[in-house]
Amino acid sequence: APLVVAIDGPSGSGKSSVSKAVARELGLAYLDTGAMYRAATWWCVEQGVELTDADAVAAAVRVMPLVMGVDPAAPGVHVGGTDVGEAIRSTAITAAVSAVATNLDVRAELRRLQREAIDAERTGGFSQGRGMVAEGRDITTVVAPDADARVLLTASEEARLARRALEVHGEAGDAAVEATRDQVLRRDQDDSAVSQFHVAADGVVTVDSSALDFAQTVEAVLGVVRE
Ligand code: CDP
Repeated sequence: APLVVAIDGPSGSGKSSVSKAVARELGLAYLDTGAMYRAATWWCVEQGVELTDADAVAAAVRVMPLVMGVDPAAPGVHVGGTDVGEAIRSTAITAAVSAVATNLDVRAELRRLQREAIDAERTGGFSQGRGMVAEGRDITTVVAPDADARVLLTASEEARLARRALEVHGEAGDAAVEATRDQVLRRDQDDSAVSQFHVAADGVVTVDSSALDFAQTVEAVLGVVRE
């Protein structure tokens, strides 16, 4: 039977890299739902939509020509033929994404697309019906509460800031960590209204990666899947 693995977690938990590795290991498709909220934000900015105008943002997202790649080795993100893979990771989009992600009409639309993508992988598509690893903030609870395996990937604040500093600045010295602190903690705060990503819901297994290296974290998640 096709396998659906749901992984949630905050910024810097290692969620994206771990989810991709798990998908590759199991031969499954991979869906980065955070990239969808980022692409929606990029699209609104590109269209000149005022991000404070909730109705305009929702209307724009409903017609967004989004194409999500689901190959864990190269998960591309395209909007209307434009490769936005890099643009959606910019500091400006990162700072603006929570405003778009807290729009309930946007969430309804993107969740609908996410469920559609998961269903497509259950029956065929990239993984030839083997299934999908979907990661984000509300996958274990709202998008795919019926997933075969559900994991909340957590890490201490210290570990998360160090990982994010490494991603953004290429190093995790004191200055780099301080430079990411405000950004990461503010986004946690902004996201907390719509996503419960610090407490595992019933039936969701918590994997704390603070003291684990990358390979150990991947093994721990694979362990949950094999249970
Ligand atoms: O950079 P990081 O890995 O923390 O975040 P991301 O996974 O790229 O997600 C970017 C943003 O999208 C988050 O800060 C949330 O505002 C939003 N998001 C969400 O609301 N629900 C999801 N399932 C995934 C992301």
